[in-house]
Amino acid sequence: MTLATPAPDAERVVPHLLERLESAWERSDALFALLDEDGLLERGIPLRHPPIFYLGHLPAFAVNQVLRGVLGRPALDARLDELFERGIDPPADGEPAPDAVDWPPLARVLAYRDAARAALREAAYELPARAAHDELARDGRILHVVLEHELMHHETLMYLVQQLDHAFKRPLETSLGAVTPAPADLDARAPARNAVSIPAGEVTLGAERDAIAFGWDNEFPSERVEVPAFTLDSRPVTIGEFLLFVLDDGYSDPRWWTPHDRAVLDKRRRIAPVDWTRTPDGWTVRTLFRDLPLERVAAWPVHVSQVEARAYLAWEGRRLPTEAELHRAAFGTPQGHERRFPWGDDGASCAQLVCDFHTLHPRPVGSTPAGDSAFGVAELVGNGWEWTSTPFLPRAGFRADVRTYPGYSADFFDGQHAVVFGAAWPTDRGLLRRSFRNWYQVHYPYAFTTFRGAGPV
Ligand code: AVJ
Ligand code: FE
Repeated sequence: MTLATPAPDAERVVPHLLERLESAWERSDALFALLDEDGLLERGIPLRHPPIFYLGHLPAFAVNQVLRGVLGRPALDARLDELFERGIDPPADGEPAPDAVDWPPLARVLAYRDAARAALREAAYELPARAAHDELARDGRILHVVLEHELMHHETLMYLVQQLDHAFKRPLETSLGAVTPAPADLDARAPARNAVSIPAGEVTLGAERDAIAFGWDNEFPSERVEVPAFTLDSRPVTIGEFLLFVLDDGYSDPRWWTPHDRAVLDKRRRIAPVDWTRTPDGWTVRTLFRDLPLERVAAWPVHVSQVEARAYLAWEGRRLPTEAELHRAAFGTPQGHERRFPWGDDGASCAQLVCDFHTLHPRPVGSTPAGDSAFGVAELVGNGWEWTSTPFLPRAGFRADVRTYPGYSADFFDGQHAVVFGAAWPTDRGLLRRSFRNWYQVHYPYAFTTFRGAGPV
């Protein structure tokens, strides 16, 4: 039997994963360097911790998962291991902000981070000896958990930094990509948005445990799902298109919202996407380092919550696609087999998708025609996670199999979270696998989440 991704030689697993961790740490450091010290303590999103929490959370996670969780070692720093253990998932209808935390001095958090990394570099080599008795020690599984957790938080950090007052940012002090969008990414025109017919067919959701080098609990086991024929928009909805909904008083029209969703938006005084500001000179749109006039980014995919996406599509007479429909459109082929990526079985270049910090912002829709799927649907993976109508729930056979982290997925099976599909500009290419699942709360407006419409054939 051939495995889809051959397991690397057991001897090489630990050094290989440590190398990948070192690069992830380097990027973590570059990303935190985007903020000055005051910025680290500033709460950019009302119900989330300030960035300094994440500075401590990443090393604390490694300590709690690997050193304490799997290797059974004592605390590295009992107070900090606990303080930084878990973040907050803001409740849907805005409960009071959590009490302010008296964060430790920055130097102490940095010393903790360095001590955790040094300890992990040594301790990782103890894992293979335990592989026979502990599945988390086998094939570097717990190191993958730490690595992918770090990579996912790069993205969390970017939408958090985006929400902070730009005055706290130091855009020039990093080795990351260009701060200002390239001229080609401003003032662009979006290609036409067409409804593409996707014939009925079967999709494979998830993966079998021995078929991939690593997957989170929610990826296993695989499941075959029959998807009836449907139509799907050829590309996501842009900022310019969403503006027409706003100008048509879409936010105040009760036809497009449930009373509960309207009430949540009213409470937050929301009359447009959270990144938009109305100024005397027109709308601006918030990007990582500055607010840009809306016209300049009108061809970029719009970032909204799931309820805002639903309202827009109700206005257009369309609906959100399901998770299985996006898999069908992205990975299915007229011949019947399924691809690894929309564009084929290999690659993942900047010509094919927007991800991996190639840019520090989305690109105009239509920028990556080389990434079209077999059915001719553009940018299904990359340039923004796409909302689905599928609630984030366990599939048949789900098992919370990371015993040191049983809540990774299970804590969010509450019907308030929905699956998002694809990838966004800060999504690491290491997370690009067909079985990977991501999700956000349906009211959450801050992530790099866009959408496109679906409907009947
Ligand atoms: C899988 C991206 C929804 O950011 O809440 C990070 C990842 N879980 N730390 C999130 C995660 C715990 C998670 N998402
Ligand atoms: Fe986390």
